[in-house]
Amino acid sequence: MAETMLDLRERPKPEAYAELETHLRAVLEGVTDEVAAMATFAAVIHHGFGHLWTGFYRVVPPGDLLRVGPYQGTLGCLEIPFGKGVCGTSAARRETVVVPDVHAFPGHITCDGRSRSEIVVPVFGRATSANATPTLIAVLDIDSAEPARFDDEDREGLERLVRCFAEAG
Ligand code: SME
Repeated sequence: MAETMLDLRERPKPEAYAELETHLRAVLEGVTDEVAAMATFAAVIHHGFGHLWTGFYRVVPPGDLLRVGPYQGTLGCLEIPFGKGVCGTSAARRETVVVPDVHAFPGHITCDGRSRSEIVVPVFGRATSANATPTLIAVLDIDSAEPARFDDEDREGLERLVRCFAEAG
């Protein structure tokens, strides 16, 4: 098991995400517990990049509600309905939402006033059969104090990382 926390702040993004993937796969080898995996993802991504808030909102019954899961950062709001804020928008659309300026996003939910930009990535679980629509299990929410911190390289890197939730088990 890898022992040290990565510091990815000075690295080109594609290289940083490739290293993150190798690291997370090593740390999580054989782990099928979603909460353990989410907690590990949040810690490694948050400290690796020095983000403001990094964590998961899980889809809970009746299926159109997000409830906070493992995270790093200051107090996050507990529940977000689908369609509300950046997280709820990503969950409802089942796609990544990149927000360069949170103040320009209608309905953005402010949990930490220092947040300037944000990315939210949907997390899908294992498909139940070959043709089944993948089940949305959570969204990964990352907030930064830097304006326009996230771009297509982050979207690609994070979407690839969270695919391990669809492979686990
Ligand atoms: N920014 C999010 C809310 C959650 S927190 O910032 C932790 C949103 O608008 O969905």
